[in-house]
Amino acid sequence: MGKNLELLQGIHKLEYEERMKRIQDFCDLTDEDLQVLSGEKRIPVSTAENFIENVVGFFPLPMGVANYVNIDGKDILVPMAVEETSIIAAVSATAKWVRQNGTLRTFVRGNLIIGQIQIPNIRNRERTIEILRDRREELIAISNGMIPGLVKRGGGVKDIVFRRLDHNDGSMAPRNQMLVLHVLCDPCDAMGANLINQVCEGLKPFVEAWTDEKVGMCILSNLVDGKIFAAEVRINDVDPKVGFGIEEATRFAKADPYRAATHNKGVLNGIDPILIATGNDWRAVEAGIHAYAARSGRYHPITDWKMDGPDLVGTLEAPMCVGIVGGVTRLHPTAVVAMKMMKIQSSNELARICAAVGLIQNLGALRALSTVGIVEGHMKLHASNIAIAVGAEAHEIEQVREQLILVLQKERSISFSRARDVLEEIRGRRTLDSALY
Ligand code: MEV
Repeated sequence: MGKNLELLQGIHKLEYEERMKRIQDFCDLTDEDLQVLSGEKRIPVSTAENFIENVVGFFPLPMGVANYVNIDGKDILVPMAVEETSIIAAVSATAKWVRQNGTLRTFVRGNLIIGQIQIPNIRNRERTIEILRDRREELIAISNGMIPGLVKRGGGVKDIVFRRLDHNDGSMAPRNQMLVLHVLCDPCDAMGANLINQVCEGLKPFVEAWTDEKVGMCILSNLVDGKIFAAEVRINDVDPKVGFGIEEATRFAKADPYRAATHNKGVLNGIDPILIATGNDWRAVEAGIHAYAARSGRYHPITDWKMDGPDLVGTLEAPMCVGIVGGVTRLHPTAVVAMKMMKIQSSNELARICAAVGLIQNLGALRALSTVGIVEGHMKLHASNIAIAVGAEAHEIEQVREQLILVLQKERSISFSRARDVLEEIRGRRTLDSALY
């Protein structure tokens, strides 16, 4: 167990102030960092004006922390910004199970993102390839001339490859051949979208002048299969009923895209909230993951679970294109504190955490689904939201929540109308009590 991990045990039971004291100690946060997290130090609207257009204000999401997460032997408190009840509780409980009985390791394969330069309706594809192949080194040098800072840090454009695509879509396009150049770039700690887009647009006039062909689009690809992150969980001596249930759940997702979509949504429940907390472009990662999941032509789960003797082994493999510089990652005060909480030093570290937590989240969901179901656990945590939704005042929420949990245990479900009845009963009882005394 890490030096200070005891600090974080049971933090969900603590009052906010005490919880924050422990987190401050564990993550070496300053008082100012805490004020950013609590919202006491407000982010001015002028900051938002720098991020987007037509600003009207902010949309605050709750941010919590998942604890007990131990990745590659290191304890990490994971900040997650998300609106859905029970995600953080599920990660923490599942991570605790893993840390007590096994390991969670991560891997990275490759370091190249992709920029696409498209030549649609190409007149002479083979000749164009020949010309550009001969000038590949020149193209790489021109590219790297546009991003000297990145090159100095060891990154930059490393290669250019050619893809022949034909479209037989019955359109009125004059020709049906297309050539796409993939500009392969190591973005170091950036997610890389802006820089690769600039490189591709910068190459366009050269490609056009040398080939006498007309370039169409220049844009990155979110299917970043040149930079794949993987995570592996091994849990020793798992109850075979649970282990084989989880294995069977994976088989279902492999056999059925309808299930695979929900399965992967559960994985993304672990990933997106970290991306949001750190100011990353979660749409880009989502798009990449879904495209990767469908790369065989059919949509698949991005995780796999199998029993290996008495152990349960799970793996996740997917592109996870994130940055710790660029975008708003260093501009959004909350994102800066979130990075600090995880002591992130490189974009790969952040991507590894995303992969690991995605896998853990998936395990939590599959364990619940293949044993008791998720309704009871989820609805228990969601009960206060329902209480608020049916109009419970602050002083009534706890009482309504407790009653709803009893209803859930007895009737196996809670509906809004049932919650309204509960609230009315409580109010009625109170009126009667005050009339009697
Ligand atoms: C709910 O947000 C996520 C789950 O549906 C994932 C799954 O079914 O694996 C529980």
